[in-house]
Amino acid sequence: MNNYIIKVENLGKQYRILHNQGEHYTALRDVVARKAAASFRWIVEQSTKRKMQSAKSPVALGDSKFKNGAGRSALSSALGAPPGGEDFWALRNVSFEVKQGEVMGIIGRNGAGKSTLLKILTRITEPTEGRARIRGRVASLLEVDTGFHLELTGRENIFVNGAILGMTRAEIAKKFDEIVAFAEIEKFLDTPVKRYSSGMYVRLAFAVAAHLEPDILLVDEVLAVGDAEFQKKCLGKMSEVAEGGRTVVFVSHNMNAIEELCGRVLLLEHGKLVCESRRVGEIVRRYLFGSGTDGASAVWVNSDNSFQNSWFFPERMYLCDASGRPIAAVQRKVDHIFVQIDGVVKKANSSLCVGIAVFAENGSLLFWSYHNDQREQWWPQMGVGKRSIRVALPAKLLNEGTYRIELIASLHFQQWLCKPEANAPSIQLHIQGGLSESPFWRAKRPGWLGPTLEWHEV
Ligand SMILES: Nc1ncnc2c1ncn2[C@@H]1O[C@H](COP(=O)(O)OP(=O)(O)O)[C@@H](O)[C@H]1O
Ligand SMILES: [Mg+2]
Repeated sequence: MNNYIIKVENLGKQYRILHNQGEHYTALRDVVARKAAASFRWIVEQSTKRKMQSAKSPVALGDSKFKNGAGRSALSSALGAPPGGEDFWALRNVSFEVKQGEVMGIIGRNGAGKSTLLKILTRITEPTEGRARIRGRVASLLEVDTGFHLELTGRENIFVNGAILGMTRAEIAKKFDEIVAFAEIEKFLDTPVKRYSSGMYVRLAFAVAAHLEPDILLVDEVLAVGDAEFQKKCLGKMSEVAEGGRTVVFVSHNMNAIEELCGRVLLLEHGKLVCESRRVGEIVRRYLFGSGTDGASAVWVNSDNSFQNSWFFPERMYLCDASGRPIAAVQRKVDHIFVQIDGVVKKANSSLCVGIAVFAENGSLLFWSYHNDQREQWWPQMGVGKRSIRVALPAKLLNEGTYRIELIASLHFQQWLCKPEANAPSIQLHIQGGLSESPFWRAKRPGWLGPTLEWHEV
C-alpha cells in the first residue's frame, strides 16, 4: 500500500506579470495575507482542477528585486516567457511524495518557487495545473501568513487556531502553557497581536503551529527571523515533532539546519524540481556550488547579458594571480589568490559599490568586501567605460574547504544590482593543502576560517 501523506503530481503555477505598473506593485505578502484567513485547515484528499489565473485579477510581483524593469525582464527571459514577459511559471512539472514521519527539506535560490509550493500545499494558492493531495491536518508557518487574526490577542489566537485544527478547548488548554513559554510572550498574552513586534509574532506563530499536534507541519524560512537562540529552539522543536512520527516540510536557506534536520531534500531551480535525494549533504553542495567542482567554476562570464541596469554591467568574474592571469578553482592555503571583476560602468554614480561576498561550504556568509572599503584616495576609478578591478583575498585566512564567491553590486543603500544570496553570480574556490609550515598544523583544523596569525613574545 502506498502510505504517502503528501502526493504532488505534475504541479504547476503560472503567474502573470503586469506591464505599466511603474513602482506600484502590491506586495505579495499583502495579497496573500488578505486572502488567507487561517493557516490551519482540515484538508481532505482533494484534487484541484486546472485553473488559470485570470488576467482580470492579476497579482504583481512583490519581490523588491524585481521592482525595476530590468530585473523583471531578466526573470522572464530566465523562465522562457515572451520578451517583456507576461505569463511565467513560478512552478512547473513538480512531482514528489512525502511519507508519514519524514522530514523533508526544500532548498533553492530566491524565486525558485519554494514558497509557491508551500502555499499550494496549504491551499492558499491554487495550482494552475496538476494536483497536490494531502492526508491529514496541516499546520503551517509561511513567510506571508501566520494565520493570526490581527485584532485578537495572543491568547485568543491560540484558541482559535487550536479550534480550527479540531482540538477541544481542554486539549488546547493543556498545550497552552507550553506554547506561551515557548514563544516567550507571557507579558503580551492579552495584547492584540497587531501590536506585536515581528519577532514576537513569528515566535508565537511557530509555537502554535508546532505544539498543536498537526499531522503535517509546513515551515517556510522561519529561521530567517528571530535570534540565534530562538532558531535553535525552533530546530529542536521541529525534530521533536518529527520524532513524534509527524511529517515536517521545511524550507530554509540555512544549510546547517537542512542537513541537521532533514532526511530528504528537494532542490528547486526556476520552478523546476532538479533533484530529490536522501543524500542531503550531496544536494546541499550541489545547490551551493553547482554539480561540477572542476575548472570552469573559477570563472563566471555573463554570457546571457543578465544584470542589465543603468549603472554597472558585470561581464566577468574570475580567480587570478597578481597579474590577472586566470587560475584554477583549486588552490593551496598559502597561495596568493585574487578575484578580478570586469564590467562596464554605464553611468557614473558615487554610490556605486562593486565587490564580493564570500560564503563557506554550508552557505554561511563569511564577509563582504567592496571596491570602496578603504579611504577614498585609494579607490579604483569607476568612471564611465570598461573597468577591471582586482582584489587579493586575505593571505592564509581561509581554511581548507570549498567557498562560494559572489559578485555583488549596489548603489549604496538604494538599490541592488547584483544581490547577495539572491541573484548574484558566483564562482568557486577550493582550498586544499598548504595549510602551514608548522609541524603542528598538518591537518585541517575545525572552524570556517584557518588564519595563520603571527605570535610575538612581548
Ligand atoms: N502572487 C504572485 N504574483 C506574481 N508572481 C509571483 C507571485 N508569487 C510569487 N511570484 C513569483 O514566483 C516566483 C517564485 O516565487 P516564490 O515561490 O516566492 O520563490 P521562493 O520562495 O523560492 O523564493 C518568483 O519569481 C516570484 O516573484
Ligand atoms: Mg520564499
